[in-house]
Amino acid sequence: MVKIVAAVLLQWACADSEISAMFAKSVGLLETDKKPQHKHTNRHAKSHNQPSLAEVATDTICSNSGIYKATWAESEESDALNVAPPADYAIELDSWDDASMTLLMTELKTMFTTEHACWPTDAGHYGPFMIRLAWHASGSFRSSDNKGGSVGGRIRFFPEADWPDNGNLDKARSLLAPIKTKFGAKLSWGDLYILAGTLAIVDMGGPCTTFCFGRQDDASGADSKMLNCDPSGDVGSLVRCDDNDPDKFSQDQQGLIYVNAQGPNGDPNPYMSSQDIKRTFSRMGMNWQQTAALVGGGHAFGQSHALAGEAGDVKTAGFEGAWTNNPTEWDNEYFQALIEEDWEAVETKVFNAQVAVKHPLHANIQWQTVNRTSVFKDTMMTTADIGIKAHPDFSLHAVRYASHLAALDSAFREAWELLTTRGSGWVSTKRCVQLEDFY
Ligand code: HEM
Repeated sequence: MVKIVAAVLLQWACADSEISAMFAKSVGLLETDKKPQHKHTNRHAKSHNQPSLAEVATDTICSNSGIYKATWAESEESDALNVAPPADYAIELDSWDDASMTLLMTELKTMFTTEHACWPTDAGHYGPFMIRLAWHASGSFRSSDNKGGSVGGRIRFFPEADWPDNGNLDKARSLLAPIKTKFGAKLSWGDLYILAGTLAIVDMGGPCTTFCFGRQDDASGADSKMLNCDPSGDVGSLVRCDDNDPDKFSQDQQGLIYVNAQGPNGDPNPYMSSQDIKRTFSRMGMNWQQTAALVGGGHAFGQSHALAGEAGDVKTAGFEGAWTNNPTEWDNEYFQALIEEDWEAVETKVFNAQVAVKHPLHANIQWQTVNRTSVFKDTMMTTADIGIKAHPDFSLHAVRYASHLAALDSAFREAWELLTTRGSGWVSTKRCVQLEDFY
């Protein structure tokens, strides 16, 4: 029975890499089998659902229109379908029964593996895309004044929808739109984003257990305007938030959720990047351990894109490749690869020749293993990921997570819950479910 209860060739040469390597040797990591330790069962079916021809013909997820409209410009906020929050979300939550809750979870699981031609999955599962949506909806939270975060579901509106860091997440929201329509006022957008990300983690074998409903939607994006650290609101300005107020903002640069993945202002310097990570995540209320678990646990899944979309030419962040060899399965391979391998900076278009074909002028820098015959040779890291190895206070935890999957499980579970529940605007009594009950 469903139980519903109330309630992350320039040789890697930073001195810190030696510290990490020494640490790794001391715990025998370099001698370990490089296979990730799997504990959880990947729950999703390997085959994915192909849509019918009729469905493909009406598939508008890439145009934010029709039944897939799920992002609204400022001028559309007042009269758009599915925008207005209910008068009393607590009453709506009370109306859920076991059957409709099971139906919601089934709809989400079906969506994870149902292909859409204009925005294909990378490896048969939209889960990683949903996790990024949930993370970006939540990562705007700042502890300085308790503003931002997933509650309110404001990522569907201007200005958050337009932040460069949120690129292509409009398609992720569109994938959720039919589900929102089906459940209407009973399910807020904010809850739907976080549920989709959390259930995706569970569906791919990850360690999350509980989900609580209760995020009341905002009717507009107005309350996100003050999250912009550049008072001009110009997302192209590249203003560093530190220049305005060093302690206030959760992101480092206007238009980002957190840090520039290629390093501060695009400089591929891992140690400097680690400092930015420390600053931004502590403004979100996260410590070293939680930050390392979140970045590496999040990047157990999915990949970076310079070759997305139907024609394989759409850039999101503009790097290309996955962090692990199993990007739709929960494991600690990210940390094993990060700690055990030496990494070197490389141009994205050198790492992946197809990027040079599609984007000849592309100038992104990412990282590859120095050992080009390693089991991790096809995986990638960004400068920020290498930053997790570059700082001893991060690498301490990365080394532990590389050898103890259980330690990563509990640290990630706790940090994910913190990340996705921060901020104000909740109903007074949350409605919580055990996600295990839907498998
Ligand atoms: C220092 C912090 C972080 C940095 C610099 C970073 C950077 C990135 C970049 C550049 C991408 C590629 C986007 C694209 O091109 O599609 C990405 C994707 C992703 N990130 Fe992060 N990230 C960070 C933290 C996190 C956290 C905390 C989570 C979740 C807990 C997370 C989960 C993901 C997932 C699941 C994807 C794959 C999305 C997909 O496959 O479509 N990231 N991240």
